[in-house]
Amino acid sequence: MVKKYKIGILKGDGIGPEIVQAAVDVLNALEFEAEYIELHAGYEYFKKSGKAIQDGFFDAVKGLDAILKGPLYTPPHEKEFRSINVLLRRELDLYANVRPFRSYKGFSLKEFNFVIVRENTEDIYTGFEFLYRGVALALKIISYDGARRVSEFAFSYARSNGFNRVTVVHKANILRISDGLFREVFFDIAKNYPEVQADELIVDTAGYMIVKNPERLGVLVTPNLYGDILADVAAAVVGSLGLCGSAQIGRDIAVFEPVHGVALDIAGKGVANPIGELESAKLMLIHLSNKYSDRKLYEKAFVLERAIHKIVEELRILTPDLGGNSKTSDVVNSITKLIQSNNT
Ligand code: NAI
Repeated sequence: MVKKYKIGILKGDGIGPEIVQAAVDVLNALEFEAEYIELHAGYEYFKKSGKAIQDGFFDAVKGLDAILKGPLYTPPHEKEFRSINVLLRRELDLYANVRPFRSYKGFSLKEFNFVIVRENTEDIYTGFEFLYRGVALALKIISYDGARRVSEFAFSYARSNGFNRVTVVHKANILRISDGLFREVFFDIAKNYPEVQADELIVDTAGYMIVKNPERLGVLVTPNLYGDILADVAAAVVGSLGLCGSAQIGRDIAVFEPVHGVALDIAGKGVANPIGELESAKLMLIHLSNKYSDRKLYEKAFVLERAIHKIVEELRILTPDLGGNSKTSDVVNSITKLIQSNNT
């Protein structure tokens, strides 16, 4: 019997509802058997309900197979409103944020295929900040356990996805204790994976390499802040933030969302690039395929990947962020047609 997956849907803010709906439409075209359960959180929800996150959110998440999510807005001017993203990552213990970056032929400047694995629960995102006598302090938290599990994840990801190199990104030349610990733990874990080459890059050099020689990179593992920043640099090298998706992996659940933010400048205009969200849906299919040994989902992910590349590389159905004038719906309809005609 075909398993029916229980998928939480968190539409988010800004362009979130448009692109999450696009992903659900495409998953339906792929005949992905799912029951979708809508979850509520974020700034729009807060404006309507006075709550940043629905009551019983974390109970509702129990029993879900995965969550497909749009971006959530954290307004910098409202000091009382804390990031729901950070809350979800902490409460659901989403310790590894996996962001694959693959070039598009005739579009990206070079050919490459690398992955940033960002530690997702620690570093400066724990939010310990103080103001004392005109001096602002922020705590950077790096724990042995945090560094260990993300490093283990990165090596095991490299092994199962055909990468023979994992690079730790740090600034241990300056932050000798905190980044020093992250680096040391990484090289300890590396001993368990002798077939994978382990090396290191200082974070500024990593930024340079992503732009200059992305074809030389494999899997990069980083503390939280560096991964956040480098992912946007990597997205620019791919061609647009709107093309990149991510998987946030926890022990019990995984959450899939695009790399970009809420893009308030284009929200509601019907021109958001849905591909980052579609890439996230693809990563969700692969994750579920591995978790439940459901080979069919892997095939669906592959069909989706081929359709996405065909749309960008050959058919050139491009939203404005890619220099075109297609709408979100044009991209979704074309991908849906390709899938249904089995012509990917
Ligand atoms: P952003 O990522 O929202 O947008 C940066 C630029 O890229 C804008 O010009 C935008 O129009 C464009 N862009 C982004 N996604 C696009 C898409 N799918 N199609 C076409 N163009 C796209 O910028 P920023 O400043 O990083 O984020 C804005 C807010 O979003 C932040 O203040 C934060 O609150 C939130 N955010 C949420 C994230 C999440 O939920 N995971 C991640 C990053 C930011």
